[in-house]
Amino acid sequence: MSSHVHPPLAMALAVALPLSFFAWQRLCKSPPSWLKQLNALGVPGKLMIPGTAIVCGGSIAGLVTARICADHFERVIIIDPEIQDSEKPKTRIMQYKAIHGFLAVFVQGARRLWPNFDAEIKAAGGRLPEADLQLHYSGLLIPSPYEEYGGKLPETVVMRRASSQRVMERLFFQHPTSAKTTALRGTVRGIHASEDGASIATVTVRQLDGTSVTLNDAALVVDCTGTIQTGVKWLSAAGFKIPETIRARYDGNMRYVCLAFDVPPALAAKLPIPAPQRETACVYTYAPHDDALATFVMLVITDNDTMQLVVGDTSSGDLPHSASEVVPFISGFRGCNAPVPSWVLEVIGLLCEHGNPSVDIIKLPTQSFVRYHSLPTGALPSNFIPVGDASLQLNPIHGQGVAKVILNGITLNYLLNSVKQGSACLPPDFAALYFKNSRPGLEALWDATRLHDYGSLRCGIMEGETRDTGHFVRWFETKLLSAGTQDKEVALALWKVRHMLAADRILFAPTVLWKTLWTRSIFSNA
Ligand SMILES: Cc1cc2nc3c(=O)[nH]c(=O)nc-3n(C[C@H](O)[C@H](O)[C@H](O)COP(=O)(O)OP(=O)(O)OC[C@H]3O[C@@H](n4cnc5c(N)ncnc54)[C@H](O)[C@@H]3O)c2cc1C
Ligand SMILES: *[C@@H]1O[C@H](CO)[C@@H](O)[C@H](O)[C@H]1NC(C)=O
Repeated sequence: MSSHVHPPLAMALAVALPLSFFAWQRLCKSPPSWLKQLNALGVPGKLMIPGTAIVCGGSIAGLVTARICADHFERVIIIDPEIQDSEKPKTRIMQYKAIHGFLAVFVQGARRLWPNFDAEIKAAGGRLPEADLQLHYSGLLIPSPYEEYGGKLPETVVMRRASSQRVMERLFFQHPTSAKTTALRGTVRGIHASEDGASIATVTVRQLDGTSVTLNDAALVVDCTGTIQTGVKWLSAAGFKIPETIRARYDGNMRYVCLAFDVPPALAAKLPIPAPQRETACVYTYAPHDDALATFVMLVITDNDTMQLVVGDTSSGDLPHSASEVVPFISGFRGCNAPVPSWVLEVIGLLCEHGNPSVDIIKLPTQSFVRYHSLPTGALPSNFIPVGDASLQLNPIHGQGVAKVILNGITLNYLLNSVKQGSACLPPDFAALYFKNSRPGLEALWDATRLHDYGSLRCGIMEGETRDTGHFVRWFETKLLSAGTQDKEVALALWKVRHMLAADRILFAPTVLWKTLWTRSIFSNA
């Protein structure tokens, strides 16, 4: 490039650069579309869409979806072999005993759907602390942005998955809209297309007594079957051409050991947990950031005098199999900056000894994304959509599973609000619009978590990609985390992205980007 810049060009640049700087900054920091649409959640439509919204699956995704559909359709049916049997433990949700963290966006959505959400969570013994996860990367804390929120962070829920699921079910059946909802205990076996093949007309259900029923009058059919992502099978069997390649997968090779403890007040008082960390969402979280030691640990105070601990590994290390192996295992963590503090080890030691520990070893499913959005419009029925894990199953370590359900729910609600008042059915491009609208948010989650996981040596890479895919993203991530330990604005951006209260683009705001690139890495391997 010539070293002489044309004078008028220099002048133009001098004016345009600061201008575009501000425009760029503003764009990056603008709220994501889902936050703008969040306020409409829980507000019923004026005229109900005729017909029945058929919700297949009655876990978190099913309950959220059916609640939203009840605001827009004349009738709703929710089908699950274990629905409305809430005192019995669920047998079909493999992560039922796993530790669950919930992101702030989930709480904000749930409060709109169920105004008594907080009250019911508390009545069930759950906690609603500020969403401070006490995240330590390689031993160093990324501080939560209390100051930027005027001293008080948005809240999150902390309780066992089983307890939170029971609350969700109770909230669902207490809500006035449940009057138009039928809960059907059974398993969805298949769907049938309308005569013109453009939509789904009926859904077949096998009830618990073995008899079959056919549900007619389907206005909308939602796949909420979770990890098994059954919708793909139903669609193929009903004659829709679904290519094998629609499901992208990789194997994060993650293993979890979850321990649950009983912590009566007398034991709680003995635990050397500093006062502030008794109130935060997590007591302590350690995340590694190097290939060789891909181990993590999270300790939380859950509901009803219980605590949970998860120890995980994505590498080659042998996980502890019993409570007595836990402390030695965690003591072996070698972050490149700081070790796990001794009080954390002491707390875990006391819990393992006196907290009546139960140990669950959880092998995670492979990560998969059914990319319905990649099919041409018209290839799929106009009234079929998936919500939750039925389309996207992420690495659970980031706790995005349930927040993602709210994200899908916001999109669904937004599109239902856009259906012309008084329409006899959904428009022919309804599903296509749903896929188009949800795509950016879901792809961002899939890409960020997948490319991060490729940094682990044992990760089974997706077909068509290599271990080098995402190299730049991983480098940038180490820079971001490093800057997050040292700079408030970067820490705030990271916190917001983690809780889905900002889109990834906030990380590219000039002021954030500049600090990120400038700060020295805290990781030895970066
Ligand atoms: C180990 C582990 C830890 C996790 N940790 C977190 C976390 O910390 N935070 C977080 O947000 N997420 C976490 N997740 C992810 C979270 O659990 C899921 O994202 C969430 O459960 C998805 O909800 P869902 O309703 O889509 O599916 P699921 O909860 O899996 O429910 C599927 C439902 O569909 C029903 N069903 C299946 N087939 C049929 C059929 N044919 N007909 C009728 N019903 C059917 C089942 O009975 C079940 O009730 C974790 C996951 C795992 C595996
Ligand atoms: C937790 O405590 C609450 C309130 O005391 C109680 O109603 C609830 O049933 C308890 N839950 C469990 C899972 O023990």
